Amino acid sequence: MTQKNVNHMLTLEEFIIRSQNRFDGATGELSQLLRDIGLAAKIVSREVNKAGITNLLGQYGSQNVHGESVKKLDVFADDQIKSALARSGIVSMMISEESNELIRLESSSGNYIVFFDPLDGSSNIDVNVSVGTIFSIYRRKSSRDVPAEESDALQPGDKQSAAGYVLYGSSTMLVYTTGMGVSSFTLDPSIGEFMLSDDDIRIPDFTPQYSINEGYSSGWPGGVRDYIAYIKQVDPETERPYSLRYIGSMVSDLHRILLLGGIFLYPPNVSNPHGKLRLMYECNPMGYIIEQAGGLAFDGSGRILEINPQSIHQTAPVYMGSRSNVEKLMEFLSRSK
Ligand code: AHG
Ligand code: MN
Ligand code: MN
Repeated sequence: MTQKNVNHMLTLEEFIIRSQNRFDGATGELSQLLRDIGLAAKIVSREVNKAGITNLLGQYGSQNVHGESVKKLDVFADDQIKSALARSGIVSMMISEESNELIRLESSSGNYIVFFDPLDGSSNIDVNVSVGTIFSIYRRKSSRDVPAEESDALQPGDKQSAAGYVLYGSSTMLVYTTGMGVSSFTLDPSIGEFMLSDDDIRIPDFTPQYSINEGYSSGWPGGVRDYIAYIKQVDPETERPYSLRYIGSMVSDLHRILLLGGIFLYPPNVSNPHGKLRLMYECNPMGYIIEQAGGLAFDGSGRILEINPQSIHQTAPVYMGSRSNVEKLMEFLSRSK
Protein backbone atom coordinates (compact mmCIF):
# COMPACT_ATOMS: atom_id res chain seq x y z
CA MET A 1 0.00 0.00 0.00
CA THR A 2 1.40 3.41 -0.89
CA GLN A 3 1.77 6.28 1.55
CA LYS A 4 -1.00 8.08 -0.33
CA ASN A 5 -3.46 5.24 0.32
CA VAL A 6 -2.60 5.10 4.00
CA ASN A 7 -3.28 8.84 4.32
CA HIS A 8 -6.31 9.19 2.16
CA MET A 9 -8.81 9.67 5.00
CA LEU A 10 -6.75 12.22 6.93
CA THR A 11 -8.38 15.54 7.74
CA LEU A 12 -6.52 18.83 7.28
CA GLU A 13 -6.28 19.18 11.06
CA GLU A 14 -4.78 15.70 11.47
CA PHE A 15 -2.38 16.25 8.60
CA ILE A 16 -1.18 19.57 10.01
CA ILE A 17 -0.65 18.09 13.48
CA ARG A 18 1.26 15.12 12.02
CA SER A 19 3.46 17.47 9.95
CA GLN A 20 3.89 20.04 12.71
CA ASN A 21 7.26 18.99 14.04
CA ARG A 22 8.65 18.87 10.54
CA PHE A 23 7.80 22.50 9.80
CA ASP A 24 7.58 24.55 12.95
CA GLY A 25 9.31 22.61 15.64
CA ALA A 26 7.65 22.66 19.01
CA THR A 27 5.81 25.99 18.85
CA GLY A 28 2.80 24.87 16.81
CA GLU A 29 2.10 28.48 15.83
CA LEU A 30 2.25 27.99 12.08
CA SER A 31 0.04 24.93 12.46
CA GLN A 32 -2.51 27.00 14.35
CA LEU A 33 -2.40 29.66 11.65
CA LEU A 34 -3.04 27.12 8.89
CA ARG A 35 -5.95 25.67 10.86
CA ASP A 36 -7.41 29.18 11.30
CA ILE A 37 -7.15 29.79 7.55
CA GLY A 38 -8.84 26.42 6.94
CA LEU A 39 -11.78 27.49 9.10
CA ALA A 40 -12.15 30.83 7.28
CA ALA A 41 -12.02 28.93 3.98
CA LYS A 42 -14.97 26.77 5.01
CA ILE A 43 -17.04 29.84 5.86
CA VAL A 44 -16.15 31.58 2.59
CA SER A 45 -16.87 28.36 0.68
CA ARG A 46 -20.34 28.14 2.20
CA GLU A 47 -21.07 31.74 1.17
CA VAL A 48 -19.62 31.35 -2.34
CA ASN A 49 -21.82 28.31 -2.90
CA LYS A 50 -24.97 30.18 -2.06
CA ALA A 51 -23.93 33.44 -3.75
CA GLY A 52 -26.27 32.90 -6.70
CA ILE A 53 -29.35 32.54 -4.57
CA THR A 54 -28.29 35.27 -2.15
CA ASN A 55 -27.89 37.73 -5.02
CA LEU A 56 -31.26 36.75 -6.42
CA LEU A 57 -33.00 37.36 -3.10
CA GLY A 58 -30.90 40.45 -2.54
CA GLN A 59 -32.51 42.16 -5.51
CA TYR A 60 -35.65 42.69 -3.45
CA GLY A 61 -33.97 44.72 -0.76
CA SER A 62 -30.75 45.17 1.06
CA GLN A 63 -31.24 42.18 3.36
CA ASN A 64 -30.87 38.46 2.72
CA VAL A 65 -33.01 35.63 4.09
CA HIS A 66 -31.25 35.75 7.44
CA GLY A 67 -31.94 39.44 7.82
CA GLU A 68 -28.29 40.31 7.20
CA SER A 69 -27.33 42.92 4.66
CA VAL A 70 -26.04 41.37 1.44
CA LYS A 71 -22.33 42.00 1.19
CA LYS A 72 -20.15 41.79 -1.82
CA LEU A 73 -18.37 38.45 -1.59
CA ASP A 74 -14.89 39.87 -1.72
CA VAL A 75 -15.67 42.10 1.26
CA PHE A 76 -17.19 39.11 3.04
CA ALA A 77 -14.13 36.95 2.34
CA ASP A 78 -11.84 39.77 3.45
CA ASP A 79 -13.69 40.10 6.78
CA GLN A 80 -13.62 36.34 7.39
CA ILE A 81 -9.91 35.98 6.76
CA LYS A 82 -9.05 39.03 8.83
CA SER A 83 -10.98 37.73 11.82
CA ALA A 84 -9.48 34.24 11.39
CA LEU A 85 -5.98 35.72 11.44
CA ALA A 86 -6.67 38.00 14.38
CA ARG A 87 -8.08 35.33 16.69
CA SER A 88 -4.93 33.48 17.74
CA GLY A 89 -2.57 36.35 18.57
CA ILE A 90 0.07 34.77 16.35
CA VAL A 91 -0.16 37.36 13.57
CA SER A 92 1.28 40.84 14.11
CA MET A 93 0.43 42.31 10.73
CA MET A 94 -1.69 41.45 7.74
CA ILE A 95 -1.86 42.82 4.24
CA SER A 96 -4.96 42.36 2.11
CA GLU A 97 -5.61 43.18 -1.50
CA GLU A 98 -8.72 44.95 -0.23
CA SER A 99 -6.85 47.38 2.08
CA ASN A 100 -4.48 50.06 0.83
CA GLU A 101 -2.58 50.17 4.10
CA LEU A 102 -1.08 47.28 6.02
CA ILE A 103 -3.14 46.26 9.04
CA ARG A 104 -1.42 46.13 12.43
CA LEU A 105 -3.02 43.78 14.92
CA GLU A 106 -3.30 44.21 18.67
CA SER A 107 -1.01 41.21 18.96
CA SER A 108 1.81 43.32 17.56
CA SER A 109 4.30 40.89 19.08
CA GLY A 110 2.93 38.01 16.99
CA ASN A 111 5.54 36.09 15.06
CA TYR A 112 3.85 36.02 11.67
CA ILE A 113 2.87 38.36 8.86
CA VAL A 114 0.23 37.25 6.38
CA PHE A 115 -0.53 38.58 2.90
CA PHE A 116 -3.77 37.53 1.22
CA ASP A 117 -6.02 37.98 -1.76
CA PRO A 118 -9.41 37.26 -0.17
CA LEU A 119 -11.21 36.55 -3.43
CA ASP A 120 -9.19 36.03 -6.56
CA GLY A 121 -11.03 36.19 -9.87
CA SER A 122 -13.94 38.00 -8.24
CA SER A 123 -15.29 39.22 -11.58
CA ASN A 124 -16.13 35.54 -12.22
CA ILE A 125 -18.42 35.20 -9.22
CA ASP A 126 -21.52 36.66 -10.89
CA VAL A 127 -21.31 34.09 -13.67
CA ASN A 128 -20.77 31.01 -11.50
CA VAL A 129 -17.14 30.47 -12.48
CA SER A 130 -14.50 29.31 -9.99
CA VAL A 131 -12.80 31.82 -7.71
CA GLY A 132 -10.21 31.43 -4.96
CA THR A 133 -8.39 32.79 -1.93
CA ILE A 134 -4.59 33.10 -1.86
CA PHE A 135 -2.37 33.44 1.23
CA SER A 136 1.32 33.93 1.92
CA ILE A 137 2.90 33.68 5.38
CA TYR A 138 6.21 35.14 6.59
CA ARG A 139 7.94 35.01 9.93
CA ARG A 140 8.78 38.55 11.00
CA LYS A 141 12.43 39.63 10.84
CA SER A 142 12.52 41.94 13.86
CA SER A 143 12.43 40.90 17.50
CA ARG A 144 9.02 40.27 19.06
CA ASP A 145 9.69 42.95 21.69
CA VAL A 146 8.97 45.73 19.21
CA PRO A 147 5.94 46.25 16.96
CA ALA A 148 6.36 44.72 13.49
CA GLU A 149 7.15 47.23 10.75
CA GLU A 150 6.59 47.33 7.02
CA SER A 151 10.20 46.15 6.54
CA ASP A 152 9.18 42.90 8.29
CA ALA A 153 6.58 42.35 5.59
CA LEU A 154 8.74 43.26 2.60
CA GLN A 155 10.68 40.01 2.26
CA PRO A 156 11.40 38.09 -0.94
CA GLY A 157 9.12 35.15 -1.71
CA ASP A 158 11.76 32.54 -0.96
CA LYS A 159 11.47 33.55 2.70
CA GLN A 160 7.80 32.45 2.87
CA SER A 161 7.11 30.09 5.77
CA ALA A 162 4.00 28.79 4.05
CA ALA A 163 1.74 29.67 1.15
CA GLY A 164 -1.40 28.31 -0.34
CA TYR A 165 -4.75 28.84 -1.93
CA VAL A 166 -8.34 27.75 -1.66
CA LEU A 167 -10.24 27.05 -4.87
CA TYR A 168 -14.01 27.35 -4.72
CA GLY A 169 -14.78 25.18 -7.74
CA SER A 170 -17.05 22.22 -8.44
CA SER A 171 -15.58 21.18 -5.10
CA THR A 172 -13.64 23.36 -2.64
CA MET A 173 -9.95 22.52 -2.38
CA LEU A 174 -7.20 23.84 -0.14
CA VAL A 175 -3.65 23.51 -1.46
CA TYR A 176 -0.60 24.57 0.53
CA THR A 177 3.11 24.20 1.02
CA THR A 178 5.45 24.79 3.92
CA GLY A 179 8.48 24.13 1.73
CA MET A 180 8.31 20.35 1.84
CA GLY A 181 6.19 19.63 -1.21
CA VAL A 182 2.61 20.50 -1.98
CA SER A 183 -0.46 18.96 -0.36
CA SER A 184 -4.08 19.28 -1.38
CA PHE A 185 -7.32 18.76 0.53
CA THR A 186 -10.91 18.55 -0.68
CA LEU A 187 -13.78 19.85 1.42
CA ASP A 188 -16.36 17.16 2.14
CA PRO A 189 -19.43 19.35 2.70
CA SER A 190 -21.36 16.52 4.37
CA ILE A 191 -18.97 16.50 7.34
CA GLY A 192 -17.46 20.00 6.96
CA GLU A 193 -13.88 18.71 6.83
CA PHE A 194 -11.03 19.17 4.37
CA MET A 195 -9.82 15.64 3.55
CA LEU A 196 -6.32 14.92 2.25
CA SER A 197 -6.38 14.37 -1.53
CA ASP A 198 -2.68 14.35 -2.37
CA ASP A 199 0.37 14.87 -0.14
CA ASP A 200 2.96 15.26 -2.90
CA ILE A 201 1.63 17.00 -6.00
CA ARG A 202 4.11 17.00 -8.90
CA ILE A 203 3.46 19.22 -11.89
CA PRO A 204 3.98 17.46 -15.27
CA ASP A 205 7.28 18.45 -16.89
CA PHE A 206 5.62 19.45 -20.15
CA THR A 207 2.07 19.85 -21.45
CA PRO A 208 1.16 21.53 -24.74
CA GLN A 209 -1.21 24.05 -23.13
CA TYR A 210 -0.92 27.78 -22.45
CA SER A 211 -2.93 30.30 -20.49
CA ILE A 212 -2.78 34.03 -21.27
CA ASN A 213 -5.10 36.96 -21.98
CA GLU A 214 -4.29 37.33 -25.68
CA GLY A 215 -6.53 40.38 -25.98
CA TYR A 216 -3.79 42.44 -24.33
CA SER A 217 -0.96 41.58 -26.73
CA SER A 218 -0.20 45.27 -27.40
CA GLY A 219 2.85 46.11 -25.38
CA TRP A 220 3.99 42.52 -24.75
CA PRO A 221 7.77 42.07 -24.76
CA GLY A 222 9.00 40.88 -28.19
CA GLY A 223 10.08 37.52 -26.75
CA VAL A 224 6.56 36.78 -25.49
CA ARG A 225 5.07 37.69 -28.88
CA ASP A 226 7.57 35.40 -30.66
CA TYR A 227 6.92 32.56 -28.19
CA ILE A 228 3.13 32.76 -28.62
CA ALA A 229 3.57 32.74 -32.42
CA TYR A 230 5.89 29.69 -32.07
CA ILE A 231 3.48 27.63 -29.96
CA LYS A 232 0.70 28.18 -32.52
CA GLN A 233 2.76 26.78 -35.41
CA VAL A 234 1.94 23.24 -36.54
CA ASP A 235 4.68 20.72 -35.69
CA PRO A 236 3.42 17.38 -34.34
CA GLU A 237 6.96 16.42 -33.22
CA THR A 238 6.93 19.17 -30.59
CA GLU A 239 3.18 18.80 -29.93
CA ARG A 240 2.39 22.16 -31.56
CA PRO A 241 0.05 23.90 -31.79
CA TYR A 242 -0.57 24.09 -28.04
CA SER A 243 -4.09 24.34 -26.73
CA LEU A 244 -5.29 27.57 -25.03
CA ARG A 245 -7.10 27.53 -21.67
CA TYR A 246 -7.82 30.83 -19.88
CA ILE A 247 -10.38 31.22 -17.10
CA GLY A 248 -9.31 34.68 -15.93
CA SER A 249 -8.91 33.70 -12.31
CA MET A 250 -5.29 33.04 -11.43
CA VAL A 251 -6.08 30.41 -8.80
CA SER A 252 -8.23 28.40 -11.21
CA ASP A 253 -5.82 28.68 -14.12
CA LEU A 254 -2.83 27.69 -11.98
CA HIS A 255 -4.68 24.89 -10.22
CA ARG A 256 -5.35 23.32 -13.61
CA ILE A 257 -1.70 23.81 -14.58
CA LEU A 258 -0.49 22.34 -11.28
CA LEU A 259 -2.44 19.15 -11.99
CA LEU A 260 -2.28 18.92 -15.79
CA GLY A 261 0.77 21.02 -16.70
CA GLY A 262 1.26 23.90 -19.15
CA ILE A 263 2.28 27.54 -18.77
CA PHE A 264 0.56 30.61 -17.31
CA LEU A 265 1.64 34.03 -18.57
CA TYR A 266 0.70 37.54 -17.48
CA PRO A 267 3.29 39.73 -19.25
CA PRO A 268 3.57 43.51 -19.13
CA ASN A 269 1.18 45.17 -21.60
CA VAL A 270 0.21 48.70 -22.61
CA SER A 271 -2.17 49.20 -19.67
CA ASN A 272 0.08 47.43 -17.16
CA PRO A 273 3.71 48.10 -18.12
CA HIS A 274 4.98 46.34 -14.96
CA GLY A 275 2.49 43.47 -15.16
CA LYS A 276 -0.91 43.29 -13.48
CA LEU A 277 -0.65 40.55 -10.89
CA ARG A 278 0.36 41.46 -7.38
CA LEU A 279 3.75 40.17 -6.22
CA MET A 280 3.09 39.62 -2.53
CA TYR A 281 -0.31 37.91 -2.55
CA GLU A 282 -0.61 36.48 -6.05
CA CYS A 283 2.77 35.85 -7.69
CA ASN A 284 4.87 34.79 -4.67
CA PRO A 285 2.45 32.31 -3.08
CA MET A 286 1.46 30.76 -6.41
CA GLY A 287 5.13 30.72 -7.48
CA TYR A 288 6.13 28.96 -4.25
CA ILE A 289 3.51 26.25 -4.84
CA ILE A 290 4.53 25.78 -8.47
CA GLU A 291 8.25 25.54 -7.56
CA GLN A 292 7.55 23.13 -4.72
CA ALA A 293 5.67 20.92 -7.18
CA GLY A 294 8.73 20.89 -9.49
CA GLY A 295 7.79 23.74 -11.84
CA LEU A 296 9.31 27.15 -12.51
CA ALA A 297 8.14 30.70 -11.76
CA PHE A 298 9.88 33.61 -13.52
CA ASP A 299 9.24 37.32 -13.95
CA GLY A 300 11.08 37.51 -17.28
CA SER A 301 14.53 38.15 -15.85
CA GLY A 302 14.79 35.84 -12.85
CA ARG A 303 12.92 33.83 -10.24
CA ILE A 304 9.82 35.55 -8.91
CA LEU A 305 10.72 34.33 -5.41
CA GLU A 306 14.00 36.30 -5.50
CA ILE A 307 12.42 39.70 -6.21
CA ASN A 308 13.19 42.17 -3.41
CA PRO A 309 9.83 43.86 -2.81
CA GLN A 310 9.65 47.64 -2.54
CA SER A 311 5.98 48.03 -1.64
CA ILE A 312 3.17 45.81 -0.39
CA HIS A 313 0.92 46.10 -3.46
CA GLN A 314 3.54 46.09 -6.24
CA THR A 315 2.98 44.04 -9.38
CA ALA A 316 5.25 41.75 -11.39
CA PRO A 317 5.18 40.04 -14.79
CA VAL A 318 4.45 36.30 -14.39
CA TYR A 319 5.56 33.26 -16.36
CA MET A 320 5.04 30.04 -14.44
CA GLY A 321 4.16 26.38 -14.81
CA SER A 322 5.74 23.20 -16.16
CA ARG A 323 9.52 23.30 -16.23
CA SER A 324 10.02 22.57 -19.95
CA ASN A 325 7.29 24.98 -21.00
CA VAL A 326 8.80 27.84 -18.96
CA GLU A 327 12.35 27.02 -20.12
CA LYS A 328 11.24 27.26 -23.75
CA LEU A 329 9.66 30.67 -23.10
CA MET A 330 12.86 31.84 -21.36
CA GLU A 331 14.84 30.95 -24.51
CA PHE A 332 12.62 33.34 -26.47
CA LEU A 333 12.88 36.06 -23.83
CA SER A 334 16.68 35.92 -23.65
CA ARG A 335 17.01 35.78 -27.45
CA SER A 336 15.05 39.00 -27.84
CA LYS A 337 17.12 40.97 -25.29
P1 AHG B 1 -8.64 39.78 -8.45
O1 AHG B 1 -10.01 39.25 -8.75
O2 AHG B 1 -8.12 39.33 -7.12
O3 AHG B 1 -8.51 41.26 -8.67
O4 AHG B 1 -7.61 39.08 -9.45
C1 AHG B 1 -7.90 39.01 -10.82
C2 AHG B 1 -6.63 38.66 -11.52
C3 AHG B 1 -6.33 37.19 -11.61
O5 AHG B 1 -7.09 36.35 -10.88
C4 AHG B 1 -6.48 36.87 -13.08
O6 AHG B 1 -5.50 35.96 -13.46
C5 AHG B 1 -6.33 38.17 -13.74
O7 AHG B 1 -6.74 39.14 -12.83
C6 AHG B 1 -7.13 38.29 -14.98
O8 AHG B 1 -6.84 39.49 -15.56
P2 AHG B 1 -7.38 39.90 -17.00
O9 AHG B 1 -8.84 40.12 -16.86
O10 AHG B 1 -6.61 41.15 -17.31
O11 AHG B 1 -7.04 38.77 -17.96
MN1 MN C 1 -6.38 38.22 -7.46
MN1 MN D 1 -9.00 39.65 -5.21
